[in-house]
Amino acid sequence: MTETKESGAHPDVADPAPTPHVADPAPQPRATKEQVEAAMHDSKLAQVLYHDWEAETYDEKWSISYDQRCVDYARGRFDAAVPDEVQRELPYDRALELGCGTGFFLLNLIQAGVARRGSVTDLSPGMVKVATRNGQGLGLDVDGRVADAEGIPYDDNTFDLVVGHAVLHHIPDVELSLREVVRVLKPGGRFVFAGEPTTVGNRYARELSTLTWRVATNVTKLPMLSQWRRPQAELDESSRAAALEAVVDLHTFDPADLERMAANAGAVEIRTASEEFTAAMLGWPIRTFEAAVPPGRLGWGWAKFAFNSWTTLSWVDATVWRRVVPKGWFYNVMVTGVKPGGTPS
Ligand SMILES: C[S@@+](CC[C@H](N)C(=O)[O-])C[C@H]1O[C@@H](n2cnc3c(N)ncnc32)[C@H](O)[C@@H]1O
Repeated sequence: MTETKESGAHPDVADPAPTPHVADPAPQPRATKEQVEAAMHDSKLAQVLYHDWEAETYDEKWSISYDQRCVDYARGRFDAAVPDEVQRELPYDRALELGCGTGFFLLNLIQAGVARRGSVTDLSPGMVKVATRNGQGLGLDVDGRVADAEGIPYDDNTFDLVVGHAVLHHIPDVELSLREVVRVLKPGGRFVFAGEPTTVGNRYARELSTLTWRVATNVTKLPMLSQWRRPQAELDESSRAAALEAVVDLHTFDPADLERMAANAGAVEIRTASEEFTAAMLGWPIRTFEAAVPPGRLGWGWAKFAFNSWTTLSWVDATVWRRVVPKGWFYNVMVTGVKPGGTPS
């Protein structure tokens, strides 16, 4: 971490050198048994092993794309989080993504006109490799770097926008990370974190997913449904991954928790919003079922059904349930805030 640079510093006093960038470690897509055992007691090692292992197949697993469907989805999350006046002043110039995975959020936000250029960062070298490759493939002005959100390797006052999707719940000290976010933002710069699980939402999502997995993997043991059963080795691998998943998923949030942590981190203009109630109750069993049967078995018709029903239920949640259900019961919560002190250039 570096000291804050004063714009009016005396000319004889040299600016501190920018944080040097040592070469990123290589991805480790195949973890050894010993590493997996060690990772059971080391959440950051678990993050790297689990996400390096997932990196090359992650987009397919989560139906992530870089076309209009996901551009609209990413922009929709951004717009739901920030006030209307922010949407009228886009784009931001330089953006940073923490826990970028394959780049889903920032690459699609850049395509949606939210930022001009960006840096995709993640604790997992495998994810940074895929995200950088995806960005280059799309012809975007993007660089990538391995970075721990608890110690962001960029200078103070560097970015106009910091974003993250489904990352805060993996970070041991979320408030420390938000302090780091405020540090690397320029005065007046904004952060937007979306896709975090609420405490209530996570409970029903997990219970529905566990039930779906049990039913799907047991029913497909019947001889007449054998073509719907994945090979046992693949199911065992999924179960081992699920064990690591329990180590990497560290938190769930009440919206008020996120607001308090963002305020303690020094942010102002903090807002939270939440979304997906019945959509999550359908979406989690659907995703679990897709993982339980052989890839490609369900086909295009199923994908269309899954997407259309999720879209319809999201609309019902936003227009009907939002009026009667408490914010903390929705599955996803997002938080935004601003670094005090001015308008970013
Ligand atoms: C659930 S994935 C989400 C990926 C992507 N943002 C998306 O929405 O598709 C969480 C990501 O956070 C990364 N991560 C976990 N802990 C981290 C940390 N301390 N610092 C930076 N990234 C971290 C993981 O490696 C993983 O790629």
